Amino acid sequence: MDRIRITGGRRLNGRIPISGAKNAALPLLIAGLLTRDTLTLSNVPDLADVRLLSRILGNHGVDITIAGKRAGQKAGAGQTLRIDAAEIVDTTAPYELVSKMRASFWVLGPLLARCGAARVSLPGGCAIGTRPVDLFLNGMKALGAEVEIDAGYVIASAKGGLKGANISFPKVSVGATHTLMMAATLAEGQTRLINAACEPEVTDVAECLNKMGAKISGIGTPELIIDGVEALHGARHTVLPDRIETGTYAMAVAAAGGEVTLTGTRASLLDSVIEVLQRAGVTVEPTNDGMRVSRNGAALKPVKVSTAPYPKFPTDCQAQLMALMTLAEGDSQIQETIFENRFMHVQELARLGAGITLDGDTATVHGGRPLTGAQVMATDLRASVSLVIAGLAAEGDTIINRVYHLDRGFENLESKLSACGADIERLSS
Ligand code: UD1
Repeated sequence: MDRIRITGGRRLNGRIPISGAKNAALPLLIAGLLTRDTLTLSNVPDLADVRLLSRILGNHGVDITIAGKRAGQKAGAGQTLRIDAAEIVDTTAPYELVSKMRASFWVLGPLLARCGAARVSLPGGCAIGTRPVDLFLNGMKALGAEVEIDAGYVIASAKGGLKGANISFPKVSVGATHTLMMAATLAEGQTRLINAACEPEVTDVAECLNKMGAKISGIGTPELIIDGVEALHGARHTVLPDRIETGTYAMAVAAAGGEVTLTGTRASLLDSVIEVLQRAGVTVEPTNDGMRVSRNGAALKPVKVSTAPYPKFPTDCQAQLMALMTLAEGDSQIQETIFENRFMHVQELARLGAGITLDGDTATVHGGRPLTGAQVMATDLRASVSLVIAGLAAEGDTIINRVYHLDRGFENLESKLSACGADIERLSS
């Protein structure tokens, strides 16, 4: 298994190109199931999760091809994928594949809407919490589907097609919003999704669906109104920039010191993260094509932050912020309100010398203790990148094991950081 070695203490200076958002690319690929025509997606990040989802979709009969670069296209601008679901040959998403990536469960919506049937493995447990699927199943039932669970599979059918309904989510769920929004595009009549997720990735998918002929309004608000149509058609869409990757590199620069311009991104996608960084004493300035982040000598100040659905502080940046706050002068409080067990990085950060105490959903980070390199283990995607951030600031060598988690969500991480002066390398086993 590959490992990453980082020798800390180098400042970061230069430019880091931000990739397309993983959390938009995955549902956009799934949206390709909704039409017989070709959906062309550009700025798709080359990630293990994208490759795995492509295999899962291949199982349903979807052809995914990588298109060549077009003249004038910037190097590193992401891949262009053509998704062609002319025939769906199989409506089963098997356990072997769905259990590896939770988002693949979302095929349930498009399969049911287009084929009237779907058999999708339950995604199972996950390192960061129980992550149930009740919101998906209740939503599908509200759209008129018959849903039962047998031998670990959700078996859903809607022989006469789905029918529009008012669905009020008791809790904000990104995945349930994506899945029910996609299903409702082909339902008969109008669907209202109330208390829907407003994450920019949901907006990106909604805009793509409208290019495909869907009729979705209220985009970007907690109430999505979807007027069902007979069929969707092909379209071209560019995946929006990855706000979590942007926030992650911003925190890496804040931790290591230096000045880096993050390009190909939009500061407006991460106002809450920028606000926290500025409170901590980091300089963040929006640019035409992204943002400039710098910290030159100034001490980091502790912060008090709670994660919450967009536009509030994202749970996907919580671990990275915790790594950063180990360097602040004083105690920070970080509350995790989305997932009940998303503190797996705490013990690993402690191996580097961090002082963090946990009380229920709140971590108190006793900042200012010096970090020193150690062997650590990545436990999930965002936790593993928090160890990279800590390693950049620690004295000596940090070895991060199980880096396949990083490969699921961060494109060219080592080369992006080493181009800015980090001493980082992948050790292949
Ligand atoms: C998505 C993101 C993930 C991010 C998360 C929260 C992708 C591919 N993944 O995950 O990176 O951390 O949003 O921003 O986009 N819940 C229920 N019942 C359900 C569904 C969810 O109780 O049926 C709960 C979950 O357990 C969790 C909360 O709702 O506590 C939010 O989860 P959700 O927004 O659904 O996360 P994902 O869509 O899986």
